[in-house]
Amino acid sequence: MFTLKFCALLWCLAAIGLSHPTKREDKPKCGYESCHPVKEGYINVHIVPHTHDDVGWLKTVDQYYYGEYSDIQNAGVQYILDSVIDSLENDPNRRFIYVETAFLWKWWMAQHDSIKHKVQRLVRSGQLEIIGGAWSMNDEATTHYQSIVDQFTWGLRRLNDTFGECGRPKIGWQIDPFGHSREMASIFSQLGFDGILLGRIDYQDKAERFETKTPEFMWQSSDNLGEKSKIFTGVMYNTYSPPPGFCFDILCLDEPIVDNPYSYEYNVDKKVCKQLYALTDLGPEDWVDLNALRGYGSYATSRRNHCKLVSINPTQQNPQLDVPELNFQSCLLANISECKITEESDKFVVTVYNPLSRNVTHYVRLPVTGTAYKVLDYNGNPIVTQLMPISNTVLNIPGRMSASTVELIFVAKDVPPLGFLSFYVSKTTGNDVMEPKRLHSLSYQSQIGIDPDTGKVNKIKINDQLIPMEQDFYYYRGAVGNNSASEFRSSGAYIFRPNQSTPIQISETAHYELFEGSIVGELRQVFTNWTSQIVRVYKDEEFIEFDWLVGPIPVQDITGKEVITVYNTNLKTDSTFYTDSNGREMLKRVRDYRPTWKLEVNEKVAGNYYPVTSKIVMQDTDKNLEFAVLTDRAQGGTSLEDGEIELMLHRSCLHDDAFGVGENLRELAFGKALVARGSHYLIAGSLNGTAGGKTVAAQERDIAQRKLMAAWTFITETSASDFNAYKTQYNMRYAGLLRSLPDNVQILTLEPWKADTFLLRLEHVLEKSEDPILSQPVTVDLKNLFSTFDIIWYNETTLGANEWLSDNEKNKEKYDKILLTKTEKEDLEWQPNVLNDNEIDSNDIYDVFQRIEDRM
Ligand SMILES: *[C@@H]1O[C@H](CO)[C@@H](O)[C@H](O)[C@H]1NC(C)=O
Ligand SMILES: *[C@@H]1O[C@H](CO)[C@@H](O)[C@H](O)[C@H]1NC(C)=O
Ligand SMILES: *[C@@H]1O[C@H](CO)[C@@H](O)[C@H](O)[C@H]1NC(C)=O
Ligand SMILES: *[C@@H]1O[C@H](CO)[C@@H](O)[C@H](O)[C@H]1NC(C)=O
Ligand SMILES: *[C@@H]1O[C@H](CO)[C@@H](O)[C@H](O)[C@H]1NC(C)=O
Ligand SMILES: *[C@@H]1O[C@H](CO)[C@@H](O)[C@H](O)[C@H]1NC(C)=O
Ligand SMILES: *[C@@H]1O[C@H](CO)[C@@H](O)[C@H](O)[C@H]1NC(C)=O
Ligand SMILES: *[C@@H]1O[C@H](CO)[C@@H](O)[C@H](O)[C@H]1NC(C)=O
Ligand SMILES: [Zn+2]
Repeated sequence: MFTLKFCALLWCLAAIGLSHPTKREDKPKCGYESCHPVKEGYINVHIVPHTHDDVGWLKTVDQYYYGEYSDIQNAGVQYILDSVIDSLENDPNRRFIYVETAFLWKWWMAQHDSIKHKVQRLVRSGQLEIIGGAWSMNDEATTHYQSIVDQFTWGLRRLNDTFGECGRPKIGWQIDPFGHSREMASIFSQLGFDGILLGRIDYQDKAERFETKTPEFMWQSSDNLGEKSKIFTGVMYNTYSPPPGFCFDILCLDEPIVDNPYSYEYNVDKKVCKQLYALTDLGPEDWVDLNALRGYGSYATSRRNHCKLVSINPTQQNPQLDVPELNFQSCLLANISECKITEESDKFVVTVYNPLSRNVTHYVRLPVTGTAYKVLDYNGNPIVTQLMPISNTVLNIPGRMSASTVELIFVAKDVPPLGFLSFYVSKTTGNDVMEPKRLHSLSYQSQIGIDPDTGKVNKIKINDQLIPMEQDFYYYRGAVGNNSASEFRSSGAYIFRPNQSTPIQISETAHYELFEGSIVGELRQVFTNWTSQIVRVYKDEEFIEFDWLVGPIPVQDITGKEVITVYNTNLKTDSTFYTDSNGREMLKRVRDYRPTWKLEVNEKVAGNYYPVTSKIVMQDTDKNLEFAVLTDRAQGGTSLEDGEIELMLHRSCLHDDAFGVGENLRELAFGKALVARGSHYLIAGSLNGTAGGKTVAAQERDIAQRKLMAAWTFITETSASDFNAYKTQYNMRYAGLLRSLPDNVQILTLEPWKADTFLLRLEHVLEKSEDPILSQPVTVDLKNLFSTFDIIWYNETTLGANEWLSDNEKNKEKYDKILLTKTEKEDLEWQPNVLNDNEIDSNDIYDVFQRIEDRM
């Protein structure tokens, strides 16, 4: 957003002008060499207008681009570029920085060759500099690192292909994300960037940094990468607005306009598709669609449909036969136990694709209408199934349109790496649907105990550790105010601000039922008609699953409700807990404390909330115990009491918090308040190792991979008369890798690149201190690894794949030199009066801004 603002700043720059044009050189130059020379003994101010074009905020991407719906927001990105190019051409002193490749690319594709040549020239002369360069400027709190790396790769590739070296961004530009993760800084350092600029940091941190003159610093962004991960970081004086006195914009309203922190859908499955492309033998013409899909994360459905087409190839075992094309479908509404194809067919084939680099066991759950089923594996052997009635709480989800009242469960055991297994399913006669049992506990590989009086969980056993644990649901009432000051701020889309620090229990008791199946046992609890849960323990799994279901949140009592779940144990945790940074490294959190400044606690609850992209952990060193909750989506989380983990599940806020969206946070679907369903995976175990040989931290990595990069389930209707008829026509087992990679290595990316090359990213998935064995460095032999191709040569690139690693290292040395040595001296005549003020500490540009502000 704010697009026109900076466009307009450019027009104003024309009005101010730089009275002394620098010498034009014939040789094209970009990068630091193209900077204006500096004048010794003065504060040299370089004014560089920049874009801030949200790839979707109050309007859609295309509405922003074309400038439609200017009543919602006055923004039309295409015109920025049109006018910028003219203005830059008119004066070689002018500079402009462009950030978001999504818009730049859309614009570029629509230009005539003559304009393209002009733009090429401007990029080569350094007048038009591209920074950031990802498809969009991503949020940092809710994003998984895989999505971040993907969207950078996509943007940076377009830039490198189009503009070459001069179009390669060197600076990260994260001026609007709400807070900054260490992992993001680490990603920037691995992209080969020289620095990053930040807009929004905690207001107390900001005050402290400006007081102590440390808004610029070297950020060591990874414990594991050490020195290598250091990156120069600068915090902007005035978020992304011009400093006071520099607001030349005709639209300069000085009102706080903020951005949607949840703007990007977390979409790991985008991957589970690219691999299939890489493993099928398709020509570049087939990649076109993949390219379109890579660009926009929001086209989930078309992406899925497309994957469906591509994944056909590996199964067609015998090309000579005239085998009918299979129509692979996925159950997109499996989360509400709805799936047309499995409900309506008496026989179908289930194909489970495993995106991980090792064998995986996946639990298949399919909504069906029959009461007995036979499932055959790829050898034709019947496998164990379990048929469970679908709970009433799920049957009653608004908008559910399904005839199924039962779910068929079976285990897809040992699905090969980057491969699949198919299962032949047919309806039979009889009734295998389970009935609940009168019990107060479930004892599987892990166990749960239930308090019969309250119906709530009172203990768990995982990895042979018995832990007293209460789990319950509560809500906070949102604060209500007129938003005139922070103490009168309403809780809303941007702000979580409970009106009291003690949450309200949703129900003293829960109705419950227990099912004891041969694959999975279930405790089904109903707390109210809008809060329920299914707790699962598996025969062969060392975790407990909490499948929560919240909504429609009632607000007839005129209070907004922000619903949380709390896991309360007896661990002594000394105010300390750990949360993940973008799904990768863990960060230590201490209640009411910040490591770099003395915290003033103004919001007891919200001030201790942190992003939990995938995991929150507590440790008790006396008991030698770790307790972790893995999430299936980014959530806010904290530990407000020792031994306790709290996670925010769903929010309904009745008031706008006046930060930009102009509406309250009460989402509706099917005419009712939205219902949300999700899962937590609990793991606990001894800190120094478990019976299985791995540490509990290593187990968590394993489960996180299996859940966040979960196997894909495709369903195919089949005309084959029986299993044998199907099996002769189609491959039912396929492995993309000829052998599993070690447990601590994962293929993060495998996708067709250019000509006959592929982009392959391998990652070590453990931190250095997580497991004495698995944390060690590991060597992977790439020879004879892939079943459909072999690697002939490879070259290493930076993380973004837009520069050879060796070139980056060479260039970095060169750039460091330029940054550190002052180049030519040249007089710049243009000096705004204020900068001649000799009271100003000439070492500190932030002082300049402050003094200007004081005078206004
Ligand atoms: C992986 O699964 C296959 C069966 O699909 C099995 O033969 C193989 O031993 C397994 N490999 C490992 C490392 O567990
Ligand atoms: C906002 O509400 C507070 C507390 O009720 C009140 O003191 C203040 O005057 C109000 N401000 C405005 C601008 O209405
Ligand atoms: C919180 O909100 C509720 C409902 O609006 C109200 O009854 C209660 O007094 C508020 N509590 C505080 C501490 O403001
Ligand atoms: C839920 O229960 C409350 C009473 O406990 C009732 O007033 C309300 O109508 C019920 N809501 C639904 C959606 O059934
Ligand atoms: C189920 O998934 C769909 C599609 O992703 C989503 O729109 C819907 O909100 C989900 N339903 C629930 C109850 O979580
Ligand atoms: C972990 O430590 C405990 C006590 O410190 C010890 O009894 C146990 O044998 C250790 N387990 C392993 C797997 O090293
Ligand atoms: C890529 O690697 C090959 C050998 O593996 C080497 O000959 C070639 O110079 C490399 N290319 C670049 C651009 O680094
Ligand atoms: C970057 O683009 C240039 C062409 O502009 C190409 O030669 C080079 O191989 C690309 N670099 C990488 C790492 O793909
Ligand atoms: Zn923004």
